[in-house]
Amino acid sequence: MTTHAPRVFSGMQPTGNLTLGNYLGALVNFVALQEREEFERLYCVVDLHAITTFQEPATLTQATREVAAAYIASGLDPDRSILFNQSRVSAHAELGWIFTCVARMGWLNRMTQFKEKAGKNRENASVGLFSYPTLMAADILAYRATHVPVGEDQKQHLELTRDIAQKFNNDFGRPDFFPLPEPLIQPETARIMSLRNGENKMSKSDPSDMSRINLTDGADLIAQKIRKAKTDPEPLPSEPEGLAGRPEAQNLVGIFAALSKVSVADVLAEHGGQGFGAFKPALADLTVASVAPIGEAMRRLLEAPDEIDSILADGAERAAALARPVLREVYDTLGLTGGGSA
Ligand code: TRP
Repeated sequence: MTTHAPRVFSGMQPTGNLTLGNYLGALVNFVALQEREEFERLYCVVDLHAITTFQEPATLTQATREVAAAYIASGLDPDRSILFNQSRVSAHAELGWIFTCVARMGWLNRMTQFKEKAGKNRENASVGLFSYPTLMAADILAYRATHVPVGEDQKQHLELTRDIAQKFNNDFGRPDFFPLPEPLIQPETARIMSLRNGENKMSKSDPSDMSRINLTDGADLIAQKIRKAKTDPEPLPSEPEGLAGRPEAQNLVGIFAALSKVSVADVLAEHGGQGFGAFKPALADLTVASVAPIGEAMRRLLEAPDEIDSILADGAERAAALARPVLREVYDTLGLTGGGSA
C-alpha cells in the first residue's frame, strides 16, 4: 500500500459573476486550507469545463481572470497555493480523454447534474457536457490529489472520480496508482440560498440580480439587497429549531453565522427575539464589511490583467511539473508510446 502525499485540488468555473454563495461555499474553505501545512494545494479556474456550454470567447477570457482575481482577493496566496487555469496545462485534456475511455456510459447516465443542466433538450447538449465528470476526474487525478473541497452538489462527481481511479488501478493491475480522493465539505456554510426565495440556491444564473450578492457589488448595492431580501413577519427564534419551515429566515441567519464564523445557535442566542427590522441592518453591515473589500481588491487586480496572467502562467508551470510524471506513467501503463505532451 503506497500512501499518497496529502494534496488538495479544487476548481471553479469561469461562467458569470461569482456570488456570496461561491465565497462562503467554496472560497472560504479554500483559504482555510491554506493554514493546513500538511497539504499541498492547487486551485484551478476550469475554463475547459466552461466550454461544455457555449461561451463568448472574449467573455471567457475575462471571466477566467475574474475568478483568478476572486481567488487572490479572498486570500489565496500564489506563493502558498498553486493558482492556474486549466487550459494552460495540457495534462487535463489528455488524461480527460483517457478517462472517457475508462468511465462507463452507465456511470455517466446516472449523473444528476447532467440531467439538470441538459434539461429537456438532451439531444442537443454537447458531448462534453455529458462527459464533464471525466474531465473533472482528470483535474484531480493528474495531481494524485487526495482531498477535494467541494459543495454538496459535486459529491456525485467525486464518487465517479473514485470509481474511475479504482477501475484504472484494477484494469491495469496498478493497485494504488491513483488515490481515491475524499471530499471536504463544510456543512454549515455549504448552501447559501437566494435572497428572493429561500428554497432555491443563490445562483449566478438567476434572472433576478436582487436574488444574489455578487462579489463585485458595491457597498450600497449590497446593503440594499439585504434590506430587500424576502423574509417572514415573525421575529427571530432563540433556538435553531425555531427556524424549521422558515427558509428565508434560516438563510439570513446562516449567512450571518458564516460571515461572523460562529454557529447558528450563537447568532440566535444574541439576536433571538429581534424582528428583521433590527436584524437586517446588522446583517447588511456585516456583509458589506466582508464582501465590499473583496470586490475592491478584485477591481484593482483586474486593472492589471497582465499581472493576473503572469500569476496563472507561473502556477501552470508548477502544476504541469507535478502532472508530467503522472501522465508519463499513465501513457506507459496503457502501452501508449511517446509519453504525451503534458
Ligand atoms: N465541477 C465543479 C463545479 O462546477 C468545478 C470543478 C471542475 C471541480 N473540476 C474540479 C471541483 C475538480 C473540484 C475538483 O463546481
